[in-house]
Amino acid sequence: MINKCLFPAAGYGTRFLPATKSMPKEMMPVVNKPLIEYGVEEALEAGMESMCIVTGRGKHTLMDHFDKNYELEHQIEGTNKEILLDDIRRTIDSAQFTFIRQREMKGLGHAVLTGRELVGNEPFAVVLADDLCVNHDGEGVLQQMVKLYKQFRCSIVAVQEVPSSETHKYGVIEGQCIRNDLFRVTNMVEKPEPGTEPSNLAIIGRYILTPDIFDYIEQTDAGKGGEIQITDALLRQAENGCVIAYKFKGQRFDCGSVEGYMEASNHCYKNLYLKDKDIALKQERTEKEVDLAY
Ligand code: G1P
Repeated sequence: MINKCLFPAAGYGTRFLPATKSMPKEMMPVVNKPLIEYGVEEALEAGMESMCIVTGRGKHTLMDHFDKNYELEHQIEGTNKEILLDDIRRTIDSAQFTFIRQREMKGLGHAVLTGRELVGNEPFAVVLADDLCVNHDGEGVLQQMVKLYKQFRCSIVAVQEVPSSETHKYGVIEGQCIRNDLFRVTNMVEKPEPGTEPSNLAIIGRYILTPDIFDYIEQTDAGKGGEIQITDALLRQAENGCVIAYKFKGQRFDCGSVEGYMEASNHCYKNLYLKDKDIALKQERTEKEVDLAY
């Protein structure tokens, strides 16, 4: 149903300087996995097989990461380190990766428009990799949104309640409540001035967009910060048709900030890494027991 996922990944990641001076922020590791790989795994879980990555200058390691590294793989072949490449190998084998360069940084709307050639005329997902989303007890956020898309067939944005003091960092929606976790968007404002926010429902970096969004972006003038904002294009789409805001199930970490990144790292260390290690150890023990039994 939705096969393509777009990853705008051309930004500078200035909040993490000097780490991001020559390394793309999307490659920052959360425990032992780069941020973007979490996003790709979430898209795969939601049934998408085509990952369209909008890159910029100095982002070639993103391409290398989703490719074979013959020298390394040859070096560790047959050793117990090979298992550490299992996840990324599976990911590479399960998806197709295409890349396009955004030559100028003109905002998120412009980044999405740059991906038009890769996406074509079909509905697609957008993942902002520095928003890391997890839902350990159920479906990932994109998968939840794909299900909703089947029902509503219009653009969908994921939202989360944030304190009023935080709304100025986000696109903020106003909407008609149609279910306890669903709103039909009537207004949305990119990074409202404190005290002027239409609600405390902030858009996070997960979107399902119908392809007419590209035309709306083309008609969108530079907005907040002098940039072409996806929020402004989505408002036009909402006014002319329908956009749904969805209060997703799960947790989201703002890995664009040092605090959020540290929280995500601690969370993933405890809830993913240690658990995986525990499973691997148990497996190893069972294999040894089987070996001994023979
Ligand atoms: C972008 C969007 C904003 C959204 C946010 C979510 O802003 O423009 O509407 O709320 O992502 O992370 P950025 O954080 O890139 O400034």
